Amino acid sequence: MAKLWGGRFEEGLDKKTEAFGASITFDKKMARQDLKGSLAHVTMLASTGILTADEADQIKAGIKKVEEKYEKGDIEFKIENEDIHMNMETYLHAEIGPVAGKLHTARSRNDQVATDMHLWMKDTLTETLEKLHNLREVLVALASEHVETIMPGYTHLQHAQPISFGHHLMAYYSMLTRDFERFEFNIQHADISPLGAAALAGTTFPIDRKETASLMGFSDVYVNSMDAVSDRDFILEFLSNASILMMHLSRFCEEIILWCSNEYKFVTLSDAFSTGSSIMPQKKNPDMAELIRGKSGRVYGNLFGLLTVMKSLPLAYNKDLQEDKEGMFDTADTILTSLDVMAGMLSTLSVNKEIMSSSTEKDFSNATELADYLAAKGLPFRQAHEIVGEMVLECTKAGYYLQDVPLERYQEVSPLIEADIYETLKSRTAVERRDSFGGTGFEQVKMQIERAKDTLESEK
Ligand code: ARG
Repeated sequence: MAKLWGGRFEEGLDKKTEAFGASITFDKKMARQDLKGSLAHVTMLASTGILTADEADQIKAGIKKVEEKYEKGDIEFKIENEDIHMNMETYLHAEIGPVAGKLHTARSRNDQVATDMHLWMKDTLTETLEKLHNLREVLVALASEHVETIMPGYTHLQHAQPISFGHHLMAYYSMLTRDFERFEFNIQHADISPLGAAALAGTTFPIDRKETASLMGFSDVYVNSMDAVSDRDFILEFLSNASILMMHLSRFCEEIILWCSNEYKFVTLSDAFSTGSSIMPQKKNPDMAELIRGKSGRVYGNLFGLLTVMKSLPLAYNKDLQEDKEGMFDTADTILTSLDVMAGMLSTLSVNKEIMSSSTEKDFSNATELADYLAAKGLPFRQAHEIVGEMVLECTKAGYYLQDVPLERYQEVSPLIEADIYETLKSRTAVERRDSFGGTGFEQVKMQIERAKDTLESEK
């Protein structure tokens, strides 16, 4: 069949070029959205009197038939029909004949593709929010079990101060909550209908853009037709939000990978989320965490890809814009599966509490406790810091820790130090006493968990 745009051409398109220019291999993912948009458009064409009720009814019936075929898997997409819009229109023509040609009245593929993408993005954002909600629930449940599980807190990847494992987990909860809020905001820019902008300048037909918008479930319409057909900010926002999300997941995965190693042994992944080695029989690898960390690369790449596509585009539509889709689909697939895998991995991992907490007993992560103890007794903190530093050096040379120093030695160093120092130096005491707002003290972690539960409840 001749091209739907074939009128002004004398020769057919070169075959390789035809494939080069086609987007059907990937934009077929928007088949449902395309049909939904067409249904809204034809409904409006009838209600405004642009088409007769009879014509519109024939087209609607045809769209329904194409939809049924699509759902049954009976539609074969063809490169020669270029993209999802023309593939669907060709099927419609096959169903109902020349009246199908009236569907494209007051519409262009430029506003049609933008509409499909807005619809697709809204669905994807909803799914992303659901999965992010679920992952945050998993995190809060795990944190609730580990409020009093002690682990080393790190700075520079060196033991810094003991913390609650629940507190560590809730830090990721906070990051993922900001991600949630960003994706939620993203919906506002996706939830605007470009349909009716036509090619770029609007149309001479008396269309009703608000009607199509409401039929498709959009809250608003673009107020500038040129912006409507060339705006891809809602996708860039998605790609950027996804990049930040993947950065968070990747940081978390990096920690999980470390925690699984022989050097840490803090956690054990369930068999369902690890793999073996084909040569080393003893291996149990955190592949899924590594993959999520690795996949952050392609998600960042997709963001930079589209930013680069957009950066020099003159208004309004340019074919370059066809390059906006594959990265968007790939990013969506990547984040949706990563969120699922992450939730599965976290809900099945076992925490080696004993190893975690005992690793804070063979270190100097209680040095701040000793300094704070002296400072609380009136010694200027800088002086206290100096004294403790010297004690750490002395212990390091002697091969023991601050909790092993005899009381007599402490009292030589400072008469302010009394027998209660040994309780103060315990990791558990150190954690429990860090009760400043947002600190790792058990009460503070419980407060964070309560707030998180309220937030999650309010999202339902
Ligand atoms: N497949 C095209 C795209 O994804 C649809 C819009 C085509 N419009 C045009 N004027 N060639 O951008």
